[in-house]
Amino acid sequence: MSIPKLQIACDHSDLASALADIKKVGDVVDIIEAGTILLLQEGEQVLRCFRAMYPEKLIVADTKCADAGGTVAKNCQQAGADYMTVICAATIPTMKAAAKEIAEIQVELYGDWTYQQAQQWLDAGISQAIYHQSRDALLAGEIWGEKDLTKVRKLIDMGFRVSVTGGLSVETLALFAGIDVYTFITGRGITAADDPQQAAVDFKQEILRIWG
Ligand code: 5RP
Repeated sequence: MSIPKLQIACDHSDLASALADIKKVGDVVDIIEAGTILLLQEGEQVLRCFRAMYPEKLIVADTKCADAGGTVAKNCQQAGADYMTVICAATIPTMKAAAKEIAEIQVELYGDWTYQQAQQWLDAGISQAIYHQSRDALLAGEIWGEKDLTKVRKLIDMGFRVSVTGGLSVETLALFAGIDVYTFITGRGITAADDPQQAAVDFKQEILRIWG
């Protein structure tokens, strides 16, 4: 089992605030994500800034792309992204078109999806999935539990590298002990902390404690 990576999700509403946080935690985390909210607000300049600041880090464009996969992926790749997300409702042609233009795409699992679809993503050469508890589901009272772990395990058994995200705290990580999670993606667990750098270090230390 490998040690899960830590990804910061920058879901800030403006670039200046995102850059302020990234300067504090960029050296601690493994992957830097331009979040959906930030990309919608500020566009591809976010990716260009992150790439200029961290030439060696993996950078994700969380576009949650639903269509025009090739064009969106090409634009993200040219702006500096390594990975781009597509929503699970996107068609296989959209996913394949995106996958041609960027190093890797990640399927974001929201709402209704099936293992039959998941097999089709694998058959199309897409081997990364993001298991997500949406902000709105969490706000509506959803919590992480066995039902989620079962799905994450099954996707890993199918052959996916699975990232996990949605309201994660340092304490949540222990739930996943023994599971070969590819990456833990956290936004507010770091960016809303009083000391974001310490919060990122705490996440890393807990990952090492459990998987190291
Ligand atoms: C929302 C996202 C977020 O980037 C991701 O869920 C992490 O956010 P947080 O840790 O703040 O819940 O993709 O759509």
